[in-house]
Amino acid sequence: MLRWTVVLAGLGTIALLLTACEGGGPDTPAAESGQPADTVEAEKSLAELLAAADVDQGKRLYLQCRACHSLEKGGINKVGPNLYGFFGQPAGQVEDFAYSDALQESEIVWTPETLDRWLARPSEFLPGNRMVFVGVRRPTDRASLIAYLQQKTGATR
Ligand code: HEC
Repeated sequence: MLRWTVVLAGLGTIALLLTACEGGGPDTPAAESGQPADTVEAEKSLAELLAAADVDQGKRLYLQCRACHSLEKGGINKVGPNLYGFFGQPAGQVEDFAYSDALQESEIVWTPETLDRWLARPSEFLPGNRMVFVGVRRPTDRASLIAYLQQKTGATR
């Protein structure tokens, strides 16, 4: 008898909880408007993000690339190739750099769009490439980095 009372009390609690959820309390409208920042960013096109890009932020983000890439004209190849003038070029054009077959044989042409996808997750965009870099997760950060690279590699002034 005691056991049934416990079970019934338990069912009563569940029923109460269910009612509370279904009712859509005062929390519901706030939850609907509170979209996570990443979702909002993802809805913007790359062109829009580039137009609002923060070049100083891009310069800070480039610190993640600097160990492996120089940007200036005539700059040295490090672990990765010098990037001067790479916008608008097919991938793998630096003559004295030993690229992976994957990159060399890819038909990638470097535009803000292809670079955006490369930088998001290089290993997924081009499996087998040799750039050991996890990626830049936020679309706004990638846009800032792309804008900085455009300035520093001679694509824009
Ligand atoms: C650990 C070293 C390393 C880091 C960090 C790194 N890269 Fe690379 N990157 C490479 C290597 C190596 C390659 C050549 C890959 C291949 O041949 O598969 C490369 C290739 C590239 C290319 C293609 C160049 C071409 O000539 O086609 C671009 C663009 C690039 N990296 C941009 C970046 C940017 C921007 C960052 C920072 C967000 C970055 N990389 C971080 C090592 C690195």
